Amino acid sequence: MNRQPLRVAVLISGTGSNLKALIDARRAGKLNVDIVHLISNRADAGGLQHARNAGIPVSVLDVQNAGKGAALDRAIIRCLDGVQPDLVVLAGYMRILGADLVQHFAGRIINLHPSLLPKYPGLDTYRRVLAAGDDEHGSSMHFVTEGLDDGPLIAQVRIPVHTDDTAASLAARLGPMEHRLIVATVELFTLHAVEMGPDGVLLDGKKLTNPLLLKENGRLV
Ligand code: GRF
Repeated sequence: MNRQPLRVAVLISGTGSNLKALIDARRAGKLNVDIVHLISNRADAGGLQHARNAGIPVSVLDVQNAGKGAALDRAIIRCLDGVQPDLVVLAGYMRILGADLVQHFAGRIINLHPSLLPKYPGLDTYRRVLAAGDDEHGSSMHFVTEGLDDGPLIAQVRIPVHTDDTAASLAARLGPMEHRLIVATVELFTLHAVEMGPDGVLLDGKKLTNPLLLKENGRLV
């Protein structure tokens, strides 16, 4: 069955390597999406160039031109409503969203977070994993709810922590895995396989008891 491409909007604050992974997967014909808009809260975000190179319209919504707090959230809602996304993807967006915005997009907004949630919400996850002596680390994709990095978990990727790892080496190994995780997770939405139910994630209509896990072959199981 040929489906219409999923209309995806992406929010970033930084280098945008995960945005680039989505663009590349789409370009390779592996992801049935139309990336309809990119929002950055920083005018100097490196990821803006990836979007411009791919012909994706961009908006910089920062404190200077959109205000902060609720005013900024309202500007984001206006901008996104103008492009009618099916899915909003936070890919390294480093601002906390207010309740109104989260509720406005409930069930159609997801976040990529560099930890095996519910462990280590918030910042500085690599350093915290090493300080705790954990033997594995990873990243999570989850629906966004009002709590910080707290919404229902959709999928994760796990990597081992090596004894000589530093925060930088862990981040360098996790990065490429996150790229595969974000693509595989967005693919689920293109297939209309996943939704936010009343008490958790529904996959093909059934409640997911544990987040899906990204395997070596790039599939989620
Ligand atoms: C990723 O590690 C993601 O988990 C976190 O921010 C980083 C974004 O990287 N939320 P990039 O801007 O996509 O390169």
